[in-house]
Amino acid sequence: MKRDPNPTELTRNPDRAVLESWLRETDPSRVEALSRAADVVRHEQVGDQVHLRGLCEISSYCRRNCAYCGIRAGNFAVERYRLRDVEILDCARRVAAFGCGTIVLQGGEDPQLDVAAMAAVVRRIKTEVGLAVTLSLGERTVDEWRLLRAAGADRYLLRFETSNTALFRRLHPPREPGEPLRRELLARLADLGYEVGSGVMVGLPGTSYADLVNDLLAFRELSLDMIGVGPYIQHPETPLGRNPQRLAPPDQVPNDTVTTCKVIALARLLCPRTNIPSTTALATVDPNGRELGLRCGANVWMPNFTPPRYRASYEIYPGKAATGHVELRHDDVASTLLRLGRQVGQGAGPGPRGSGPLAPLSP
Ligand code: 5AD
Repeated sequence: MKRDPNPTELTRNPDRAVLESWLRETDPSRVEALSRAADVVRHEQVGDQVHLRGLCEISSYCRRNCAYCGIRAGNFAVERYRLRDVEILDCARRVAAFGCGTIVLQGGEDPQLDVAAMAAVVRRIKTEVGLAVTLSLGERTVDEWRLLRAAGADRYLLRFETSNTALFRRLHPPREPGEPLRRELLARLADLGYEVGSGVMVGLPGTSYADLVNDLLAFRELSLDMIGVGPYIQHPETPLGRNPQRLAPPDQVPNDTVTTCKVIALARLLCPRTNIPSTTALATVDPNGRELGLRCGANVWMPNFTPPRYRASYEIYPGKAATGHVELRHDDVASTLLRLGRQVGQGAGPGPRGSGPLAPLSP
């Protein structure tokens, strides 16, 4: 296996064998060196500000049947809810008052989503509250995306989940034959002028190291503005959660903290100016997850502002961090960041498309 002493070289030359050797690295001092290199690149390219994106989970209805996800249509054990427009606007005001520059409106692929009404809510958030708006509402039509974009939506998140397309099709059954893959949809979103975010679940059953290397290379090819990665977490009310061994290849990638942190670090090295969150899934599998992510390349934190009474119903995976924890305090976020030598981000925190070229690379 090829070894490279200097992780930063990956920014210039993303070599497959080197990427794989880092993903398989077990020597703690070398793993630490990888995190440090990513942290330096993060500091040089996007600075020490951590952008806060307030998450509002607007609907737990979903027409999809993804084998890994707790809000899949076939899970009758989960309660379904849909926020009213006034609740979304109230949430947006709390997000702004907290000091976030962006609200992320996320939901299942709700078949009853009233896109015109949603567009009106987006317009009001933009004009009355003054936040950047990120949407994460699954696979919608180009016409729907165009309407939401015209209403002022700035960004869209749609993870491709894994670049192993045969596996993706198995775990994410198409609703009709010939449905385009998410990579094609990401291109449509970029054409419409959205900043585009995507990502994968680390350690999804059925994924090998070669798949994970392909995921990392895809992040770079797609010129993403945002890359969200978190560990796969088993959900007992899903086909994959009930039968995890079904798909595991001999070369199965683990869904643990250290592998997720390596993926974050490598994503930072391959995509130096991209916005990378330290995800809730990472904070769920590890009590230090949030900080660990911010120390190995991440520069975004997405605190949850979903009204507390709905939180338990948006159970994509069990034990979602902070489900029981009612309000996050700004002081807690600020003191965590201070301890890490970081500051709360100012403004919307645009992705690389909106914020200019790379700073000179370290030798
Ligand atoms: N474990 C971790 N992440 C999950 N997601 C869905 N189900 C799970 C799970 N069981 C992630 C997917 C999706 C995002 C909103 O949540 O990557 O894109």
